[in-house]
Amino acid sequence: MTAYNEDATHRDPLSGEAGSGAPGPAGVTRRGFLKSVGASGLAAAGTSMVSVAVLADEAPAAVPAPATGPDGGPYTVQFTVNGVAHQLNVESNAVLLDVLRDRLQLTGTKKGCDHGQCGACTVHVNGVSVNSCLSLAVMHDGDQITTVEGIAKNGTLHPVQQAFWDHDAYQCGYCTSGQMMSAVALLHDARVPADDHSLREAMSGNICRCGAYKNIVAAIQDARGKLRRA
Ligand code: FES
Ligand code: FES
Repeated sequence: MTAYNEDATHRDPLSGEAGSGAPGPAGVTRRGFLKSVGASGLAAAGTSMVSVAVLADEAPAAVPAPATGPDGGPYTVQFTVNGVAHQLNVESNAVLLDVLRDRLQLTGTKKGCDHGQCGACTVHVNGVSVNSCLSLAVMHDGDQITTVEGIAKNGTLHPVQQAFWDHDAYQCGYCTSGQMMSAVALLHDARVPADDHSLREAMSGNICRCGAYKNIVAAIQDARGKLRRA
């Protein structure tokens, strides 16, 4: 059964009430709370969407990591991440997700289950969605890799990022970068029909523990329309 269930309830983590804008204790709404905490506090809590917005404003040019280092290894791999070429020495069992996060400091890609079951670690390799927790870095010599930090252009959010923001398509945000990367890929995949059911099936590898599926589907369909008009 897909986790993308139309009946999934979107519950407020503060109030426990259903609905994204439901008031919590002392009349506090989630949206109001998020505004009061501010972007830096949310980023520290691991909120991917805010990280995306901040990164878009700060022009996320990845800094090439040193070719060798204390966490290097005997195998040399060269690949491009978000348009920046890297040459790294890695161990044979170095996992792509760990290399992206720990060697290149691209922490927008999240480690959820670390077993290929949640989709939080989704990146694009040569334009195709990949669970980076299941992929060895040495397998990607010559590949073009895109992470969530690489989909905003010139300080402007990708239409999928903007739609997630507009539709409040997240709660804790931990799954959000993976959801958006899968969404970007499927919107460019002509094999996936445009209806909601097909979209849910295509996104079923991305789990949202907060149950924000209804808003995620709405956001992706909104982005689909904007990409068509672009
Ligand atoms: S962390 Fe890779 S699928 Fe869950
Ligand atoms: S927004 Fe919390 S896991 Fe999806």
